[in-house]
Amino acid sequence: MDLDLYKDYGDIAEALLDFVEHRTTDQADAPMQVPVASYLDPARFDREIALIFRKLPLMLALTAEMPKAGDYKAMDAIGLPVLITRGRDGAARAFLNVCKHRAMHIAKEGKGNCSRFACQYHGWTYANDGHLVGIAEGHTFGDVDKAALALTELPCQEVAGMIFVVLTPGEPIDVPAFLGPMLDDLAALKLET
Ligand code: FES
Repeated sequence: MDLDLYKDYGDIAEALLDFVEHRTTDQADAPMQVPVASYLDPARFDREIALIFRKLPLMLALTAEMPKAGDYKAMDAIGLPVLITRGRDGAARAFLNVCKHRAMHIAKEGKGNCSRFACQYHGWTYANDGHLVGIAEGHTFGDVDKAALALTELPCQEVAGMIFVVLTPGEPIDVPAFLGPMLDDLAALKLET
């Protein structure tokens, strides 16, 4: 379908209904071939990752997967280790699952429940709101500013039973605007339950 021909969702819906009624679909003027590079070109793949998958909200968890305070989910998302937590305040937050000391993952991939994460490498401990709360053998590290060494937070928003994350720190996130009219349909599914 040539989306340039259609001005809004109403136009698209009308065109689709017309196709159904006349048992047809959008067609090019002649058979066309899609270049193999469209699927295999590494540079194109990298651009898609950078411009789409690391810029737009990705639905990485369902509310129902981690409904209680302390619940967490750790995963690889497009090559990045991500940790989603639910704090005592009920808020879902997302972080890079990377210790600020020597970059070890602080949570194993999977799901669980805890209020703190202790890094397996040298025992630095983080609260599930991302703050660095403990440094084992702290005297051996010198004067460390714990407040400056919180986990790197990722933009995160929970909407209609879904937890969305943008995989670039500091990027804006506005899931209702991103979903547009689909939000009402998704909310009707009551995914949070
Ligand atoms: S890498 Fe985490 S405490 Fe050293």
